[in-house]
Amino acid sequence: MNIKKTNELLDFHGQTVLVTGASMGIGYGIARRFAEAGADIVLADISPLGEQKAQELAQTFGVKTLFVKTDVSSENDVISLFEQVAKEFGKLDALINNAGIFPMKPVLEMDLALWEKIQAINLRGTFLCCREAGKLMVKTKKGNIINIASVDALHPSSVGLAAYDASKHGVWGLTKNLALELAPHKIRVNAIAPGGIRTEGVETMSAGATKAAANPEAPAEAPMDVPWGRMGEPDEMATTALFLASDMASYVTGSIIVADGGMLLK
Ligand SMILES: NC(=O)c1ccc[n+]([C@@H]2O[C@H](COP(=O)([O-])OP(=O)(O)OC[C@H]3O[C@@H](n4cnc5c(N)ncnc54)[C@H](O)[C@@H]3O)[C@@H](O)[C@H]2O)c1
Repeated sequence: MNIKKTNELLDFHGQTVLVTGASMGIGYGIARRFAEAGADIVLADISPLGEQKAQELAQTFGVKTLFVKTDVSSENDVISLFEQVAKEFGKLDALINNAGIFPMKPVLEMDLALWEKIQAINLRGTFLCCREAGKLMVKTKKGNIINIASVDALHPSSVGLAAYDASKHGVWGLTKNLALELAPHKIRVNAIAPGGIRTEGVETMSAGATKAAANPEAPAEAPMDVPWGRMGEPDEMATTALFLASDMASYVTGSIIVADGGMLLK
């Protein structure tokens, strides 16, 4: 076995990395960190904000970037995204399935449309991107897929997230079975389970929860009780993803890394 130097293990020059939900939050943090490590980056997001972020990353790190406006729950959008990746870059080294939503709504108040939307973006979107990425990666017999799950894939964090938890349990199940399916092709498939990470999406959710708490009948919010004493930052998820996508994790597949400041210990 060829033993690489540590700095070589974390050098992503010449690699193409696709991040979904990359316009902000954890996804943008991941895109930025891989660009800093030298990778060419495809940013896919339903929000057009990613266009400007792609330009900034190209200027800052001198890498090639491409923004593709994509709704990951749409099969047509996802197929078109991977066609563009194949055309522009000819290959894909790593996919980070990060796009996701986490609206809070108790099951007894949830209409079917919201249930379906959460599953469509979080679970169907992850499946569609895994399938299309897998088709590209088997051609080179090499690749990494990283699914951003959640601590909620393992244990509920709050009342009101049942639909979200179902979708993230699904993401973790998909990750394990796909790791089995793709191991013969030398494609690793892993997941990350973030705890509470300070992002635009969480700020919006917290603002909504504060409003709901003004209603005495609203379900009690679980306090953010993290042994590490603070929320996580997007870049802390990004460095975890960088490890998983690198040859530092060359024997790691079908695993989930919990990055939660000890939240699940409670
Ligand atoms: N922030 C946390 O505390 C936390 C904890 C555990 C898991 N996660 C997971 O991490 C991921 C990112 O979370 P975040 O906090 O950065 O969220 P965020 O809301 O800050 O950012 C999410 C990004 O996904 C994009 N997006 C939403 N729907 C999409 C769709 N249909 N197609 C393509 N892009 C879409 C948004 O436009 C946005 O850019 C999610 O999967 C979330 O479930 C987050």
